[in-house]
Amino acid sequence: MKPRVAITGAGGFLGTALTRALIASGVDVHALARRPISLPGIAWQPYELGGPLPESSFFAQVDAVVHLAFSMESSGQAMEARNVAAARELHAAVRRAGRPFVFVSSMSAHAGAASSYGRAKWAIEQSLDPAVDTIVRPGLIVGPGGVYARMLAALRRAPVVPVFYGGTQLIQPSGIDDDVAALQRILNQSLTGTFNLGSLQPISIRELYSRMLAAARLKRPLVPLPGNLTVRVLRATELLGLPLPLTAENLLGQKHLRVFETAASFARLGLTPTPLDQLPWVLPPSTA
Ligand SMILES: NC(=O)c1ccc[n+]([C@@H]2O[C@H](COP(=O)([O-])OP(=O)(O)OC[C@H]3O[C@@H](n4cnc5c(N)ncnc54)[C@H](OP(=O)(O)O)[C@@H]3O)[C@@H](O)[C@H]2O)c1
Repeated sequence: MKPRVAITGAGGFLGTALTRALIASGVDVHALARRPISLPGIAWQPYELGGPLPESSFFAQVDAVVHLAFSMESSGQAMEARNVAAARELHAAVRRAGRPFVFVSSMSAHAGAASSYGRAKWAIEQSLDPAVDTIVRPGLIVGPGGVYARMLAALRRAPVVPVFYGGTQLIQPSGIDDDVAALQRILNQSLTGTFNLGSLQPISIRELYSRMLAAARLKRPLVPLPGNLTVRVLRATELLGLPLPLTAENLLGQKHLRVFETAASFARLGLTPTPLDQLPWVLPPSTA
């Protein structure tokens, strides 16, 4: 019988890439999603974060559950509480069925995280047991979707690039293909524990923007702005409900970036990360 994997967030950027790769390798993928997903060969099980869970018989029939879905529809503590509660409920149901649970966290997750996103990911990690569960922490995923594509689209629109906190904070981009390959190995080999997936060498936010501008063939001045003051202004503006291209949450995430040791994770997976210069920085204008 073919292996079966259930994936929340299967219709998102990473979820689509992972689903395609798994189906191509002969795995049956069941999307746990709020609407059907138009990928050939994928089965659909309705699922909303925090909503009713599938019957226990569903979990008993899959070989693993990969939890990718994360809701950014609310903000602050509401966002944190919703995502943490939903992940804990899902995890409990998967463990009751005795199935492996693979949680896709983030390099924003650490004890000193200040953004609601980072705090939620960290809180979810804390309720897992690395002896039996799997935690995957990608860095900024470079590829045609997700945060990276949104950042590149913002760079195309903006006349200047605002740089906060000096732009010297370090970040570890990862290639979408490396993240997919890592998740496939984890599933194939039932690996547990924590895997940090990002470039071996961190780069500064300034260097990240320079690489993105070069990839998009854009010339934009980098303009330093005070981070803490901007967070306060953004918070006040957000209270007014105005739509903004940048949120206080984004800036807090940038302020508290942390460098993770990634070589051991890639070595354990038997993978060599794509060198920074060869990441898919260049996207067609239609995707960014
Ligand atoms: N992209 C990155 O750079 C990056 C870096 C580190 C970690 N990650 C993590 O990797 C995971 C996938 O990221 P991504 O870039 O693929 O994000 P994405 O494209 O935004 O996908 C998010 C997925 O979550 C689903 N979702 C959101 N709210 C939901 C809800 N209330 N109920 C059920 N499903 C819901 C979305 O479903 P709909 O299609 O229905 O909206 C979508 O399929 C996330 O957990 C993210 O935090 C991403």
